Amino acid sequence: MKKLAPSVLSADFSKLGQEVREVEKAGAHLIHVDVMDGAFVPNITIGPPVVRSLAASSSVPLDVHLMIEEPDRYLDDFMTGQTEYLCVHAEACRHLHRTVQHIRDLGARAAVALNPATSLSALDYILEDLDMVLLMSVNPGFGGQKFIPQTMRKLRELARIRKERNLSFEIELDGGISAANIAEVSAAGCDIFVAGSAVFGAEDRAAAVRELIHLMR
Ligand code: DX5
Ligand code: ZN
Repeated sequence: MKKLAPSVLSADFSKLGQEVREVEKAGAHLIHVDVMDGAFVPNITIGPPVVRSLAASSSVPLDVHLMIEEPDRYLDDFMTGQTEYLCVHAEACRHLHRTVQHIRDLGARAAVALNPATSLSALDYILEDLDMVLLMSVNPGFGGQKFIPQTMRKLRELARIRKERNLSFEIELDGGISAANIAEVSAAGCDIFVAGSAVFGAEDRAAAVRELIHLMR
């Protein structure tokens, strides 16, 4: 099933609960939460208390994207009753296999993200253990950036590998997704679509959610 995951990075943080309920009501399948530490990426966002509040204030499952160094230290803190996917960056993990097992032990779906310049080969020996692979289609750190076109080739290659090896992990794309490219990204094999500015930057968020869902199907 294809899923839309609006990213709250582009929401109004002073009324986060309200904004999340608005997109949830419009049909969003997940809420994508961008956690940044100012070290792995050049920006700082939110931490576990905000994620816990988000979990408590809506019933939509959370897709938690950790753009932080040494994520192992904080995995337990981001595990709320609503955390469905817990995603770490391959570039931030020295012992990725151990980290992935830790996420699974916590009861979340294990996801690993790759920066635009990181090769798919970084995941060659761990794909069997993953529930989801997140391909960054912009450099992580900020919302509202332009989609990096080479991501399309990477996406097609990953979808091909999944088929060849008969695996069932989901593929998520994050960054620069809008009504202009979501159908093409979907056709190339993407299952989960993160959209920050395309949803929360729109005047009518509910209409934006409905349009993106319509186009990705
Ligand atoms: C970027 C974040 C994205 C971001 C996407 O580091 O991981 O989730 O919110 O925003 P848009 O959709 O505006 O590119
Ligand atoms: Zn993200």
